[in-house]
Amino acid sequence: MSDLVEIAFTSLEPASLAAARGGTVVCFVGKALALRGAAATAFDGAAALVARAAGVAQFKAKPKTVLDLIAPAGMQADRLLVVGIDEEASARPHDWVTLGGLVMGKLKAGTEALVVFDPTGADAAAAASFALGLKLRAYRFDRYKSKKTEKEDDAPVRVTIATADGAAASAAGASLSAIADGVYTARSLTNEPPNVLFPVEYARRAAELASLGVEIEVLDQAALEKAGMRALLAVGQGSRHESRVVIMRWNGGAQDQQPVAIVGKGVTFDTGGISIKPAAGMEDMKGDMAGSACVVGLMHALASRKAKANVVGAIGLVENMPDGNAQRPGDIVTAMSGTTIEIINTDAEGRLVLADLLWYVQATYKPAVMIDLATLTGAIIVALAHEYAGMFSNNDDLCARLSQAGDATGERVWRLPLGPAYDKLIESKFADIKNTGGRHGGSITAAQFLQRFVNDVPWAHLDIAGTGMGSPLDEINQSWGSGWGVRLLDRFVADHYEA
Ligand code: BES
Ligand code: MN
Ligand code: ZN
Repeated sequence: MSDLVEIAFTSLEPASLAAARGGTVVCFVGKALALRGAAATAFDGAAALVARAAGVAQFKAKPKTVLDLIAPAGMQADRLLVVGIDEEASARPHDWVTLGGLVMGKLKAGTEALVVFDPTGADAAAAASFALGLKLRAYRFDRYKSKKTEKEDDAPVRVTIATADGAAASAAGASLSAIADGVYTARSLTNEPPNVLFPVEYARRAAELASLGVEIEVLDQAALEKAGMRALLAVGQGSRHESRVVIMRWNGGAQDQQPVAIVGKGVTFDTGGISIKPAAGMEDMKGDMAGSACVVGLMHALASRKAKANVVGAIGLVENMPDGNAQRPGDIVTAMSGTTIEIINTDAEGRLVLADLLWYVQATYKPAVMIDLATLTGAIIVALAHEYAGMFSNNDDLCARLSQAGDATGERVWRLPLGPAYDKLIESKFADIKNTGGRHGGSITAAQFLQRFVNDVPWAHLDIAGTGMGSPLDEINQSWGSGWGVRLLDRFVADHYEA
């Protein structure tokens, strides 16, 4: 997909600002409603217009409000956007991203814009974060729209960000642009329809990361059988589409550095199987691979910014369908670990996929830490709505790090408990465990199930059913598939595993 925004950085000097012709100029003002420094000098006459227009429109420069004006006579630009900011609050990196998204939402396709990026604390890193917000907001998924209503809609917005140190911002912007590319990848995979993105095709797309230097291994059905991943295969056995596991390795760290392992649920469509789901809203189950999409997006981001860390991404790709060959409630399957599982509900399939994948990744890669992402339970939406992902873990330190990365990126996680009393709920009459835990604490018993397949490694499970898709649209995300988790985990890797 071609980019809908092109971003350049320049330095903040009155002469270069005044030269902006046509298009839009974006300025930031606080409560005093006053243009500052270079902007005040460059845009003679703008100050009076802003003051007058603010009065008429009762614009108080509250954060996230915008005053949209025809540029005054003295200005070469056509349009002046005055964006309110809180000058007293010290902005966190994520606030700059949100601000970028807010501004991008006001710009029109095919136009040029000059952003006078001069708020207090707006350094090079802030300018880069702002640019990330522009790009995240600009994402669109219209591959399947056969009629483009307005042709010029496809023309990019060309944005120049004028900031104190344009060169430094440009350097910082490069790695954030890699992260945005990773988010785009995750969003698009999630948005793809399930007739297009079935496991084999998904594996093919993940394998395209080889062009960025990611090592790819695809396990086909024979290899999965040989490895003993009977639980994962049981989910896919009712589908016409074969199952796949894809392993993606980015080796940017020291040779002896144990990898970070990220594991994702990739159910390309979840009908529920024989325990079939109700019809209403079932189309959303094309997004039941959002966890795996995050893993692919993350690997994309890490490789394209050449992260100095060793990371292995593993995704389990299956389609959960009802069929004469589908698994039944009552079936007992033996997972790769040797644990026997009684199937109570074929709609609790994600945990079966992850059980084998978690086991395989631990045994094969001896990771320093292992994190899985999965649209695992509807119950997590009941508990946390779309604001936080549920976090479950055997390690307090890992939780603290993930919470911190969540606060920094705005992709927030909230820890929920695990414990023996919950584990008891998945004891089975006939097998070692069963795949559902009854009506109560559904997200917890699902996590408890996963923990049965985790040994000593520090591990965290993120239930992203509420955040990976269909969450409320906001400044930086206008897409159904949100790409949630790419920025969180990129930050987590950057903060703790890059020398
Ligand atoms: N993929 C669903 C969970 C889900 C629900 C994701 C809504 C996104 C939105 C998962 O496979 C599932 O069906 N879980 C069941 C578990 C139950 C049968 C124990 C659920 O949450 O109802
Ligand atoms: Mn299900
Ligand atoms: Zn599912």
